[in-house]
Amino acid sequence: MNQTLHIAIIMDGNGRWAEKQGQKRVKGHEQGAKVVRTITEFCAAHKNIERLTLYAFSTENWKRPRLEVEFLMKLLEKYLKNEMEVYIKNNIRFEPIGDIRAFSTSLQKLIKEVKQKTEHCDGLVQSLALNYGSHDEILRAINTLKNEKNDITDEMLSNALDCKHQVDIMIRTGGDHRISNFLLWQLSYAELFFTDTLWPDFNEEELKKILNDFTKRERRFGGLN
Ligand code: FPP
Repeated sequence: MNQTLHIAIIMDGNGRWAEKQGQKRVKGHEQGAKVVRTITEFCAAHKNIERLTLYAFSTENWKRPRLEVEFLMKLLEKYLKNEMEVYIKNNIRFEPIGDIRAFSTSLQKLIKEVKQKTEHCDGLVQSLALNYGSHDEILRAINTLKNEKNDITDEMLSNALDCKHQVDIMIRTGGDHRISNFLLWQLSYAELFFTDTLWPDFNEEELKKILNDFTKRERRFGGLN
């Protein structure tokens, strides 16, 4: 197997991780951002992993308290500024998904800059889902296709989405068993893994175990073996 897997992760549990230690919720996001780096570097070094898509900020996350939203925006900015070198060093291409028009002009500019500066990288593709919601993504895709004269095919819709690639492994940390408007089209035959581990405690060892469990699952894609 060579560079084929697409892993998607719902990184849940940052707030609870911080609260458990008597710290403010945002401390959990800060620690969560460090884990994003560790897991991204692990995936970049793994020969079978082609894509890693991480749910960093959803279309629903705007409902959080203003200060938490502002903190997440600043953290994202800091992360992207720091990560530029890490992406290049590890040959990682950054391909954000989601509608970034809702972000400040400077953050939009930074997101586009990191994307452009890593365009030549041909190793792991790391996608951060930013102001991402699956309904929003599908609606935007349908609206770009609505004047098509012919019937819309599976391939046409797939290609009009922000994320054009089916997911193989979907992991959700933090103990909840739901999809939360993440990659609904792309998860159609994904193998689902739910762990109680809070995202700031997630590590390479747990990911290795999931990858190992994945090899034991029989994927039939609706067929018979
Ligand atoms: C869920 O934890 C996590 C988020 C809403 C955002 C994910 C953000 C990060 C991992 C850090 C920032 C990432 C980057 C790339 C800079 P929660 O707050 O819902 O946790 P809870 O369920 O314990 O409240």
